[in-house]
Amino acid sequence: MQPQVIGGTPAAQGEFPWVVRLSMGCGGSMITQQLVLTAAHCVPPTGPNTSITATLGAVDLQDPNRVVVRSDFVHRAPGAGGPPGDDWALIRLERPVDVPTIPIATTPEFDNGTFTVAGWGAAVEGGPQQRFLLKAEVPFIDDVQCASAGSNYANLVPAEEICAGNWDDGGVDTCQGDSGGPLFRRDNAGEWILIGTTSWGIGCARPLNPGVYAQVSTFAPAILAAAASLGPRCAPFVNTTAVDIPDAGPAITSAVDAVCDGRASNQTKVEVNINHPYRGDLIVDLIAPDGTAYRLKNAKGDDSADNVNDLYTINASNETASGTWQLRVRDIFRGDAGLLKNWKLTV
Ligand code: ARG
Repeated sequence: MQPQVIGGTPAAQGEFPWVVRLSMGCGGSMITQQLVLTAAHCVPPTGPNTSITATLGAVDLQDPNRVVVRSDFVHRAPGAGGPPGDDWALIRLERPVDVPTIPIATTPEFDNGTFTVAGWGAAVEGGPQQRFLLKAEVPFIDDVQCASAGSNYANLVPAEEICAGNWDDGGVDTCQGDSGGPLFRRDNAGEWILIGTTSWGIGCARPLNPGVYAQVSTFAPAILAAAASLGPRCAPFVNTTAVDIPDAGPAITSAVDAVCDGRASNQTKVEVNINHPYRGDLIVDLIAPDGTAYRLKNAKGDDSADNVNDLYTINASNETASGTWQLRVRDIFRGDAGLLKNWKLTV
């Protein structure tokens, strides 16, 4: 038999695009374009944290097309580290990534049936981590039966943990290195829904020793509240390619492609750096992805000062954050040419 998660098969490229590999050797799931849901036991305490990287967009961790993004903040479940349970955490990435996300279960309706698990963890108990993402199917095991396995299982927290595996025969399971990764299934509409995050087990794939997962439906209110407080935070988007501004000529533009969740902010910031010997010649607009223009600066015949090095704040909350934004600059009075050096957008 091919070595697999344990007892699974390779996932196809793009099959579970929201599954991520984390640099500390855990898994995770993208629940927004900037937030990874993982296990509390995979992360340090809550706070700013740039030490984690997430690899996504590839089943092969060495795929040249994989995307690697650094963290900027960790939110660990408040109860983590104490009694069993509370094994969830959110990692905010330093920028949003354009990948599909998986919705989390907000009711226990789907906390039963047959689940899928996926990860790059060991394919045999005690074995090495995997290069290729593996998947397997594991049946639900109810809390009473799970707790009857004794040992650590006797301390199962029924509301916070959900068990899965082949009770009698074992053979299929997550294992070391799969922690934080997803336990998921289809909802009534046939869409994937996240039911659990891989937490622990005694050994791997042993009969009578199921895998234990943090029960996402229980934590959904806390996860969503934490997610709301963490984001969406749109990374600044910068264009540093200089563009000549012709004297009394046609408008020039410079674009950035923003990838963000939801709408732009009512405090969208635009930093503009232009060299020009007579700044009153210049009209500067921000053009939203749908073509709406926001005037940042008007021409002013008597403003003879040099250069534009200004930070503008506009209300762009009617705009979709994602898309191509442009800075448009036009010199309308004869006498001097200029240079758009760079600009930065924080939507
Ligand atoms: N705690 C493990 C990790 O850090 C996950 C173990 C899952 N074990 C199991 N038998 N299902 O990767």
